Amino acid sequence: MPTAIPILDRPIRLAVVGLGQIAELMVPAYLGRDDVDVVAGCDLDRERLERWRPDLPGALLTTDLDELLRVDADVVDVLVPTYLHAEVAVAVLEAGFHVQLQKPIARNAEDCERIIAAARRNGAQLRVLEDYVFFPPLVKLREIVGSGEIGDPVGLHLKVVNTGRGGWDVLPTSLEWQFEQTSDGRGMLVFDHGWHQLAVAIWLFGPIKRIFGWIGSTEIVPGLALDAPATLVWEHEGGLRGVLDITLAVDTYFKSEFYSCDERVEVTGQRGAVRCNRISSFGRQEPSVEVYRDGEIRSYHALTEGGDAGFAASAAHMVDLFRGRTTDPLMGADMADTVLTALLYALESSQVGTPLDVPTHDQASAPSR
Ligand SMILES: NC(=O)c1ccc[n+]([C@@H]2O[C@H](COP(=O)([O-])OP(=O)(O)OC[C@H]3O[C@@H](n4cnc5c(N)ncnc54)[C@H](O)[C@@H]3O)[C@@H](O)[C@H]2O)c1
Repeated sequence: MPTAIPILDRPIRLAVVGLGQIAELMVPAYLGRDDVDVVAGCDLDRERLERWRPDLPGALLTTDLDELLRVDADVVDVLVPTYLHAEVAVAVLEAGFHVQLQKPIARNAEDCERIIAAARRNGAQLRVLEDYVFFPPLVKLREIVGSGEIGDPVGLHLKVVNTGRGGWDVLPTSLEWQFEQTSDGRGMLVFDHGWHQLAVAIWLFGPIKRIFGWIGSTEIVPGLALDAPATLVWEHEGGLRGVLDITLAVDTYFKSEFYSCDERVEVTGQRGAVRCNRISSFGRQEPSVEVYRDGEIRSYHALTEGGDAGFAASAAHMVDLFRGRTTDPLMGADMADTVLTALLYALESSQVGTPLDVPTHDQASAPSR
């Protein structure tokens, strides 16, 4: 059985499966806290274990998942490639742990259902790690929308320009499986990265009822194409419309300590607008949030806004969840299912060339192609 929540009298004991690229953002968020103990780590690649050994002196580090599953932990972070999420997460859930799983929850509806069913069967907390909904400038944007300052929201515009220069060096093995994903139509830019944007849209304005995807392809080196340019257009159940532009500008330099891309989120209201000017990168170093109303612009310059800020805030939320200070996992199974369903319908609509109605998560399941 998973540890009973709340856990009040000691740090949360956490184990990590998959110590690749995203662990570079996830694990530091825990190391800075005295209410989380990273008690174990598992990776098939010994080099990745050695990379973390100095930071995790007391932890069990192993290449054997079964050994990790015998450790005394409350929650396991599953940070393996997305196509392995169901295999690893279900094993962890069946072994009696709460699970935090990197976004996207899975690459298809069937795997998503398997994971959610295993969590319910075992009475475990399932939390999908979506750092964007914790990124302080986006939290501020949502607060401003909710305050009524820009009037009733009437439109949402999200933009991602994928720049090819700047940012950290991503592990070649990480890029390998990401590039392979593109070949089955669930590519790195629309499926993997677009998940973040649809998650933000749904967090801001609720489920999507109709969506259209128009997904192109650009060869970046012979034999390797990425899924851009791409445009997704949708309508939320409340009637508000959103659009996401995904563009590839490989020769553009963009400053970042982490992933590099130019990301914008803008909500237009009846009386004004609020825009978040960056997420992963420092980019042009504009204020991270700007509000326009009645001929004046107010800028936010002092928010915590590094590309790692959402990860730190997400770790704090995880502690709140296991301490019993909140019951909302943000994001839980239902929301993850809602985001995945909308995303799969967007991909399907691009195939059939027409907008599609998106069922709510308790109606028919998402396309399984
Ligand atoms: N939140 C974000 O912004 C963000 C960014 C990048 C990746 N991600 C997500 O994080 C997940 C991992 O991506 P990544 O870029 O870190 O990939 P990666 O390839 O860099 O790392 C995955 C690691 O898992 C290990 N691994 C694979 N199978 C394993 C197994 N059965 N047992 C133990 N270890 C195993 C690999 O050896 C590798 O070190 C994906 O779901 C991805 O979508 C999220």
